[in-house]
Amino acid sequence: MELYHHRIDVVVFLLFVSLISSSGVPIPSRPVQCNVRDYGALGNGSTLETSSIQSAINACHSRSNKLGSKSVVWVPPGSYLTGTLFLRSNMTLHIDHGAKILGSSRQMDYPPEKDRWYVILAEGVENVGITGGGEVNGQSSKFVVRYDPKKNIMTSWNVTGNCLGDECRPRLVGFLRSTKIRVWNIDLRQPAYWCLHLVNSNFIHIHDISILGDFDTPNNDGIDVDGSNNTVIERCRIDTGDDAICPKTTYGPLVNLTVRDCWVRTKSCGVKLGSATFFDFRHLRFSNLIIVDSHRGLGIQLRDAGSVYDVIFANIVVSTRYYDPSWWGRAEPIYVTVCPRDEFTLVGSVHSIEFRNITARSENGIFLAASENGAVIHSVKLVDVDLKIERWTSYSGDGGMQDFRPGCQGLISHDKRSGMFVQRAHGLSLQNVSFTWVTSSGGGEEVPIEFGSRTPEDSISLVNFANDFLAS
Ligand SMILES: *[C@@H]1O[C@H](CO)[C@@H](O)[C@H](O)[C@H]1NC(C)=O
Ligand SMILES: *[C@@H]1O[C@H](CO)[C@@H](O)[C@H](O)[C@H]1NC(C)=O
Ligand SMILES: *[C@@H]1O[C@H](CO)[C@@H](O)[C@H](O)[C@H]1NC(C)=O
Ligand SMILES: *[C@@H]1O[C@H](CO)[C@@H](O)[C@H](O)[C@H]1NC(C)=O
Ligand SMILES: *[C@@H]1O[C@H](CO)[C@@H](O)[C@H](O)[C@H]1NC(C)=O
Ligand SMILES: *[C@@H]1O[C@H](CO)[C@@H](O)[C@H](O)[C@H]1NC(C)=O
Ligand SMILES: *[C@@H]1O[C@H](CO)[C@@H](O)[C@H](O)[C@H]1NC(C)=O
Repeated sequence: MELYHHRIDVVVFLLFVSLISSSGVPIPSRPVQCNVRDYGALGNGSTLETSSIQSAINACHSRSNKLGSKSVVWVPPGSYLTGTLFLRSNMTLHIDHGAKILGSSRQMDYPPEKDRWYVILAEGVENVGITGGGEVNGQSSKFVVRYDPKKNIMTSWNVTGNCLGDECRPRLVGFLRSTKIRVWNIDLRQPAYWCLHLVNSNFIHIHDISILGDFDTPNNDGIDVDGSNNTVIERCRIDTGDDAICPKTTYGPLVNLTVRDCWVRTKSCGVKLGSATFFDFRHLRFSNLIIVDSHRGLGIQLRDAGSVYDVIFANIVVSTRYYDPSWWGRAEPIYVTVCPRDEFTLVGSVHSIEFRNITARSENGIFLAASENGAVIHSVKLVDVDLKIERWTSYSGDGGMQDFRPGCQGLISHDKRSGMFVQRAHGLSLQNVSFTWVTSSGGGEEVPIEFGSRTPEDSISLVNFANDFLAS
């Protein structure tokens, strides 16, 4: 190791000399590379290597910083067991093909503050990335107390009292208050809790990644983008138990999000805005998505003071089905609800949402509902939407049971099944929308469009609407 340090110093010196070209114009130097093995990491899967890898990160950062260059921290093939690793600015963590970062399952290997429980964490940095073709694995199976095909019972790190409830587990990868973030060509596997978390950050590009969580584990979200601006997510594959792509506004407003060319399967909602909606969402674009076998397709779940403006969902294929009702969702291909989280909340509103060229096969219909306390859904447009309503699982349909969780009326029974349920929606427009009922549900009367309370029917426009019942 000592020898290596000397060698690096020589390289650094040479790079430094080469920084000024013959013309005297500074030229960017090549990135500094550091191999974690040179800092003592073994990659044998059982030794805790947090300090070796972190010293590679820190050394690489200080060398590149002196040079004004970037750095690449190289993780060669092997399995590296680690607690939280902190990434630095101007750095790419390169996890090679065949290399695996394994998150420790011991609380003592993570920082004391629950908001910093991540296997890989970047806080307040710029120009930071993760790539390499390898894997980051949260070892979620080590957090399962009891397997249950309905929903697993999980360990909770709530014993020290700095986290309460049953959502006390580490996330996999987090970027907090950072800018210029890129995550690409990497597999994120088995998170114990949320997988990829982007908070109060700006200029984010996530592409060509795959996320595989446990289908029966709660809170196994795919990508949570919270209070961040200018985010592009493309060419991703997400197969997980909880919400797959989940924009939130817990910590600030969210502006300019584009998601395209992704494949999704989840026991919750494919794309879900919320339920943490404390600030506004503006200008979101979702296109060319395939959502299969999920509990919900495209969802907006407004529960707090923030509002949603200008969202387009386009060119999307959805299939939604029932799962155990302990998971939120009633097989709705499209789901928009607005209602206050609790009696102290003045909930925001939804404005200008468009669903265009959506083809869905679902066990239930579309649900658009604001609650009774003055909330309203404004200007929702459905254009070229083709919905086939068909039952193929054996979960009982319970008539048209409606799911307002979290909060509000909760999960309530309802005596009809609707192609679309609409409540307190103003300015709803349907153009070229067709519902086809393939099989009889055997539970409740089937209604093409059902109006809940206080929906002014004259504010709804239907152009080229078709509803067909096919004999089964
Ligand atoms: C990994 O290396 C450590 C330290 O040499 C050793 O104690 C441990 O047994 C090794 N584990 C495996 C699986 O080889
Ligand atoms: C990152 O690199 C850029 C360009 O060399 C430099 O201006 C900036 O200060 C670096 N950022 C940090 C936090 O070191
Ligand atoms: C700790 O988590 C367990 C398991 O989820 C839960 O049953 C218990 O109520 C929690 N205790 C506290 C104090 O949050
Ligand atoms: C995102 O943009 C909003 C609105 O312009 C701004 O208030 C917020 O601070 C920005 N957030 C970040 C993390 O840059
Ligand atoms: C959103 O994107 C537009 C168009 O690229 C840009 O002008 C605007 O500044 C962005 N908003 C924020 C908050 O970054
Ligand atoms: C509608 O969406 C599908 C993908 O779901 C796409 O193949 C098709 O080109 C889209 N049609 C139009 C007119 O954009
Ligand atoms: C109506 O929508 C269907 C699919 O939902 C599409 O194939 C067809 O081209 C649309 N017709 C018009 C006139 O846009």
